[in-house]
Amino acid sequence: MRVLGIDTTADDTCAAVVEDGRTILSNVVFSQSSLHARFGGIVPQIASYEHLKNVLPAVDTALAEASLRLEAVDLFAVGQSPDPALNYYLISLTTSKVFSVIFNKPLIGVDHMEGHFLANFAEHRDLVFPFVSLTVAGGHTLLSYVSDFGSYEILGSTRDDAAGEAFDKVARLLRLGYPGGPLIDLAAEKGNEKSFVLPSPMIHDASLDFSYAGLKTAVWRLVKSLEKDYPQGLPSLMVSDIAASFRRAAVKVLVEKLFKAASIKKVGAVVLGGGVAANQLIRSEVTREGAARGLRVVLPSLKLCTDNAVGTAVAAFYKFRKCGGDDPLTLKHYRERPLMNW
Ligand code: KG4
Ligand code: ZN
Repeated sequence: MRVLGIDTTADDTCAAVVEDGRTILSNVVFSQSSLHARFGGIVPQIASYEHLKNVLPAVDTALAEASLRLEAVDLFAVGQSPDPALNYYLISLTTSKVFSVIFNKPLIGVDHMEGHFLANFAEHRDLVFPFVSLTVAGGHTLLSYVSDFGSYEILGSTRDDAAGEAFDKVARLLRLGYPGGPLIDLAAEKGNEKSFVLPSPMIHDASLDFSYAGLKTAVWRLVKSLEKDYPQGLPSLMVSDIAASFRRAAVKVLVEKLFKAASIKKVGAVVLGGGVAANQLIRSEVTREGAARGLRVVLPSLKLCTDNAVGTAVAAFYKFRKCGGDDPLTLKHYRERPLMNW
């Protein structure tokens, strides 16, 4: 079964073709980051316009790379996320609905966050349930126990900012640019992570929840106090030191809670997903800790960490097999909450 996934739930216009939930035939991402960069975050009006302009070219490219005609697609899949106010979700939804109706093929809506970690099945074919997944993106931080496709137990989530959001905000404070995660990662490689002591909020808390507001405020206070001595701007080595110290504090709590969850749930594998999973430190720390504990660590390739429609198409394949399609006339552009079971 060849599934065409389309996702416009953030600032990338994504289209992909995946066969039988495993074989990636194409993975196309048209990024808008440079247009949002000077605003320091996604501007909904710009995102809507760009998605509208790019969605058909992205689909066209994905089909061409997969050597597939639109009428030969077996299932149309669309990414959904839990925010009804974000109208640009409607662009992929409407596009998929029209395809579904015109070609009389089924349509299915899938959770964007679910797509993030299920994308791993296209790269790690021997991945088996159960596992604990940590999905760390710009809007969500979700730690969950995954016992099957569509069977999720949320063990922890963020009480304020998402991990990716914290990277983006700290990058803005340090005047590094947008999106902040990759730029902090790059700067941190040149810095000394022991230069500044920053908190890893809730690291000793009994729950598996996260919080990034305190860490973000600590960096804000640090930057403001240092700026008094450097009114022309902080020296770049100091910026790298702050970035490295922040990255260490942010990643430490993610890794700690991921393995705590794995030990509570007694799973043999941990799985990462979402943009922050591209972070060099989290990748090396999770790999090291997994090896020390004898656990399998599954990391998406960098291309499948950040937004893509491969995960959308993978999730859709399994969801369709179990639940059938959605009604193309009534399917909504959003979900009530993340990781709903099916
Ligand atoms: O999954 P994603 O592409 O979009 C959402 O679903 O939100 O995640 C985007 C987030 C952004 O906050 C971005 O700064 C962060 O992922 N990110 C990273 C890195 N690459 C992307 N954060 C830390 N280190 C990275 N290398
Ligand atoms: Zn995402």
